[in-house]
Amino acid sequence: MKPKIIVHGGASRSSNDEPDRKKDVINACKIGYEVLLEKDAVEAVEIAIRNLEASAFLNAGVGSYLQLDGRVRMDASIMKDDLSAGAVIGIEDVEHPISVARRVMESTQHVILSGRLATEFAHSEGFPRYDPRTRPKVNLWMEIMEEFRQKTTYEQIFHVDQYLKEGRFTLGTVGCVAMDSNGRIAAGTSTGGLKMNVPGRVGDSGIIGAGTYCSKYGGVSCTGYGEKILVLSLGKQVVNYLKFRESTNAMGAAEYGIEELNSLHAHGGIICIDKQGNIGYGHNTKAMAMHFIE
Ligand code: GLY
Ligand code: GLY
Repeated sequence: MKPKIIVHGGASRSSNDEPDRKKDVINACKIGYEVLLEKDAVEAVEIAIRNLEASAFLNAGVGSYLQLDGRVRMDASIMKDDLSAGAVIGIEDVEHPISVARRVMESTQHVILSGRLATEFAHSEGFPRYDPRTRPKVNLWMEIMEEFRQKTTYEQIFHVDQYLKEGRFTLGTVGCVAMDSNGRIAAGTSTGGLKMNVPGRVGDSGIIGAGTYCSKYGGVSCTGYGEKILVLSLGKQVVNYLKFRESTNAMGAAEYGIEELNSLHAHGGIICIDKQGNIGYGHNTKAMAMHFIE
């Protein structure tokens, strides 16, 4: 079977960084594809996402948005078509959350580790300490904090997003789905969460069945409004669509997923690969940095 890979750098309402994001997404896709020619799907997904996490233009790993308290907490998940899965939620002080998620999958009996436990697990497993904050993201945080302080009462803290100006609200989760030459599929997603995320708020990217899902019918990675992706169980729904509608393919399933998002007036994007190796994608945002090789 011919290997295939699709990568996204997040659905967004458009940003000045679009060409840089696109460049890093194409690069990660190419590196993932090189790996796929030699190794299996899960290896390619991890490597592609590590490259996306290393980009300062994308909201995952290095360059993640700071949360309300000025810290970066990240979520990531990875899943294979045999239903093995691993994820971390609210992890800090690492460069590559996706690799920690893979370690959870491969060397523990758990699926998700969260918060301090996730960070301690990573460091005890030998993942180096790394502060993913970049100067532009720290500056942005300070700017928003200033504005927020002037306009907000303590009670409004959970609605911080309402204080962010439309134009500044860009999303940038990253993800990858790959099929290797043996026809095996894997999918993964990684994010820094929402800009000014309230500490403790959990989005879709670290949740198996929401941001990421993979079974023998297909693999999916989602991006966008995490709360809505969660309540839709969007990743699982898209794979179920492939499972129960023999006549559909990955593109049809992605379109169905976008219709589900539309029904909740939620912004987002989806990438997927079905069991025949068809590639599908869709988004209802102005832009979604994305690239695939088949
Ligand atoms: N940071 C939210 C998203 O792009 O999915
Ligand atoms: N889609 C990423 C998040 O909502 O955190």
